[in-house]
Amino acid sequence: MCGIVGYIGKRDVVPILLDGLRRLEYRGYDSSGISALNKKQITTIKTVGKVKNLQHEINDTISSDQLSEFTVGIAHTRWATHGAPTEVNAHPHLDDSGKFAVVHNGIIENYVAIREQLNQKGHRFLSETDSEVIAHLIAECFDGDLAQAVAAALSKVEGTFGVAVIAVAEPSKMVVSRRGSPIVIGVGGREMLVASDVSALISYTKNVIYLHDNDLAVVTCDGVDLRSINNVPVSREIAKIDWDISAAEKGGYEHFMLKEIFEQPESLANAIRGRMDESIGTAILSGLRFTPKEMIEISRVTLAACGTSMHAGMVAEYFFEDLANLPASVEQAAEFRYRNPIIEPNTLVVAISQSGETADTLAAVREAKQKGAVVTGLCNVVGATIARETGRGIYLHAGPEIGVASTKAFTSQVAVMLMMALKLGRSRRLSVEDGISLVHEINKIPELIRATLAHSEEIKSIAEKYASAENFFYIGRGYLYPVALEGALKLKEISYIHAEGYHAAELKHGPIALLEEAVPVVALANDIAGKEKIIGNMQECCARKSPVIAVATEGDDSIDNHANDVIRVPASSKFTTPITTAVALQLFSYYVANKRGCEIDQPRNLAKSVTVE
Ligand code: F6R
Repeated sequence: MCGIVGYIGKRDVVPILLDGLRRLEYRGYDSSGISALNKKQITTIKTVGKVKNLQHEINDTISSDQLSEFTVGIAHTRWATHGAPTEVNAHPHLDDSGKFAVVHNGIIENYVAIREQLNQKGHRFLSETDSEVIAHLIAECFDGDLAQAVAAALSKVEGTFGVAVIAVAEPSKMVVSRRGSPIVIGVGGREMLVASDVSALISYTKNVIYLHDNDLAVVTCDGVDLRSINNVPVSREIAKIDWDISAAEKGGYEHFMLKEIFEQPESLANAIRGRMDESIGTAILSGLRFTPKEMIEISRVTLAACGTSMHAGMVAEYFFEDLANLPASVEQAAEFRYRNPIIEPNTLVVAISQSGETADTLAAVREAKQKGAVVTGLCNVVGATIARETGRGIYLHAGPEIGVASTKAFTSQVAVMLMMALKLGRSRRLSVEDGISLVHEINKIPELIRATLAHSEEIKSIAEKYASAENFFYIGRGYLYPVALEGALKLKEISYIHAEGYHAAELKHGPIALLEEAVPVVALANDIAGKEKIIGNMQECCARKSPVIAVATEGDDSIDNHANDVIRVPASSKFTTPITTAVALQLFSYYVANKRGCEIDQPRNLAKSVTVE
């Protein structure tokens, strides 16, 4: 959830660390810090708040001569777990002597016990964090070899970590390791970077090594010496990042979120490109690596995910049932391994995760594998842990999603699962003709999104009209029920308005008590099955004086009499309506939040990738 960056090489260390931190800021951002090493000592600076505060503090305290003396450095942006966001709790953490500095992502579960043992040996701790014990443990284990000390220290900790370590005794190296939290090494010419996310290093190199769990790497400016924490040599390929730094910049948009919303015609085209076989009306998803026999043996689909990705899974439940006649159910990933889920021999488990690093989804993957399920991953971040651990799956190819609120990943997840359902459907009851007609619909998605985005100005003016409301309901039915949940989630996370998504029929089983003039209801009333029923639900809301904002199909004026305002989306089938409607609701949330002056790309308390349970 936090961000790590490290640099060793020919350039000035600190500007590169700061640049990396800025690019990682979206991951966790209540405090930040750097430690940089010249030949004699480690200089550490930490501040609370944004990276720009750290930049100011560095400008005020370090002279340019000092800056040019640093040979290596590590840096961190924090999203507080253990201990409040204070300067002292910010990373890097040092041991008592100040000779070892550590940045850490993840959670050390046995830190209290370690801390007590180290206290008895005379170590004094400054922070409330779990991470600080790592620095002290390394100092305790150090016997002239930093890599060995790091390995020895990490073998004593339980929990998850991505760490980067520097030490005064070895000023020309960094040691990094991971278990459960990503670490990637950027390989340059006589310079190396390390980071928790490629966006921190892509402006310097596109050649990267993704560490696997329990890998440990000694990084110098000339190379990387890779081994396991148990000191067994390992070799990892150098991968090439296939996107450009401009993809991780705002490109003239006010916020990353808005840019990512408007990128959806392209992100969806990328998700679809090369994956449609029109001649036989099916999808080509080679990453699933199913033989035709395996395909027809699948008897159930279980989708495991969190948050927005879970909402995508809820849409896909309908796809798998309608198109492939397969029982499908979504499991909240956080519950999966605690519920003893029933995995039958031919259950296909689909782990859906933009980041591919979400701790709960990863745990669900491991549990499902343990239970013998066929497990596939649906990830956006290439090389992510879930993609690697499932070994089979589909990348979204949506490009980096920097805005904390997930937008383009959601629509790509839905589109990709529609393709999966088509493929499974074609191996079952779906005819060639039906398959071909669905291929045509899928191919139209980018155009449908363009047509939806063309309504952005109208959506903006409706959003601004309701921006001062403090409570919202979102209601939908069938394919649009999960979209109502997603619309409410989007609004609450970026605008801090209390919003609840409900199945439209559930409203009268309790929540209707809350309806009144000050509580707008967003009703998803597209022209697909269930529209007549939702019109009835809208009337129930009007009768309680709630203003109704309907999402309706272009040209369908049967809705207008039942709503105070109408957001239009282009006509499309029930399969693609969740995508167009989600895009309209993303815009609605964005414009509400912008009108309220919220920090849209970095909402309070949220982080982009949730690597703790
Ligand atoms: C909301 C949002 C989160 C994520 C959730 C899962 O906008 O982004 O709800 O969807 O944390 O993240 P991934 O998809 O990375 O597993």
